Amino acid sequence: MTQTSSSTAGRTFQLEPAIALNGTVRVPGDKSMSHRSIMFGGIAQGVTEVQGFLEGEDSLHTLEAFQAMGVKIERGGAGEVTLYGRGVAALTAPPAPIYLGNSGTGMRLLTGLLAGMNIPATLSGDASLTGRPMRRIVDPLSQMGASILTGENGTPPLTIRNTAPLTGIEYTCPMASAQVKSAILLAGLHASGTTTVHEPAITRDHTERMLRGFGVEVDVSGLSASIRGGQQLTATSLTVPGDISSSAFFLVGASMTPGSNLTLPGVGMNPSRTGVIDILRLMGANIRISNERVTGGEPVADLEVEGTRLKGIHVPEELVSLAIDEFPALFVAAAGAEGETIVTGAEELRVKETDRIQVMADGLRALGGDISDTPDGAIIRGKRLSGGVADSCGDHRTAMSFSMASLISDGPITVLDCDNVNTSFPGFAQIAGAAGLHIMESQGSTDT
Ligand code: S3P
Repeated sequence: MTQTSSSTAGRTFQLEPAIALNGTVRVPGDKSMSHRSIMFGGIAQGVTEVQGFLEGEDSLHTLEAFQAMGVKIERGGAGEVTLYGRGVAALTAPPAPIYLGNSGTGMRLLTGLLAGMNIPATLSGDASLTGRPMRRIVDPLSQMGASILTGENGTPPLTIRNTAPLTGIEYTCPMASAQVKSAILLAGLHASGTTTVHEPAITRDHTERMLRGFGVEVDVSGLSASIRGGQQLTATSLTVPGDISSSAFFLVGASMTPGSNLTLPGVGMNPSRTGVIDILRLMGANIRISNERVTGGEPVADLEVEGTRLKGIHVPEELVSLAIDEFPALFVAAAGAEGETIVTGAEELRVKETDRIQVMADGLRALGGDISDTPDGAIIRGKRLSGGVADSCGDHRTAMSFSMASLISDGPITVLDCDNVNTSFPGFAQIAGAAGLHIMESQGSTDT
């Protein structure tokens, strides 16, 4: 089945074949941490200063949501945000439904937080978010005593209704999801007793780390995290590192093209996010990690990539949750690699901003790639691409991944429906152009 684009108009990327990526690329701030910096600074007591905040549409929707709930937030120079928190008690119910755009993180984390604080609200989103599964958070939050109405099939909009205070639970998560884990922990922050989440695999732990930065005790043991209810957050200052998920397009582009030499300074290296580096290295990539340091409780480093010819691998399943957002880019690396790449255990890709297995398989086939999709992954046989038209279906990560395919293509590539690149990577086309892609943006109809 082919996934159809949610919109037929929007920005288009036109790419001529390119040969290598060179120079220095500074990627914008981490999206996951940017959302959390607003949520935690917004409920903390005192002034929180954030540097390196991602000024992308997703995290800005979260910022506007907290302004709508009465939190004073000022934006300074690039990436600077100051939140004047007055504690949880100062938050007021939003006067109108909160629109969270394309953001699953915004919706799922905010639902947990608001349910715990007993703030009634309706949360809505764009066509993509409105199709995404929310029962995965509504079920555990309901077990805690929350009352949340969903749309048909358990999808947004979500309406959080007033209830008695929530009660802590012990919950075993059926899927590896940091958003589900975080929604439950954030509800647990204001529930009675202790809330514990057990996970089936490692997922990003930015919630646990950043809450500690705000003075909250979070106990982590193996794949379990616990939080005691009734803890208050104290304001802090934090610097958001570059987003490794945004770096991934450049890591892939440079890794797979001999002649590339690219530096990416200040990239977040949280071990729950670095699967993309491990997978590319297994494929033969030359990625050097230097200047390792810790900023605001999160590891950060500079990355340097030297291009080579990659080879196909069976991606180890234990790396899937550590690289979950990077698979669209990794599919492109596999499409140009020598031999076959097999991805298994990655069924969560089907419930992201789009069904990323389907969109990448359709798009790479349209560009001349040899790829078979499977229920939980894909089999990709590497070759030169011929070029053509790939529909991103409005997904930021598929749009940027198809752009990198111009490095392994003999003919021009058109990528449709690229507006949502602004959700996570404003300025992508300019930055990619400066590094070596031959990319032009145009506005217009993308009728297919
Ligand atoms: C995120 C968690 C992941 C990831 C998303 C951001 C987060 O989603 O794909 O881009 O910030 O917690 P899941 O929890 O659905 O895996």
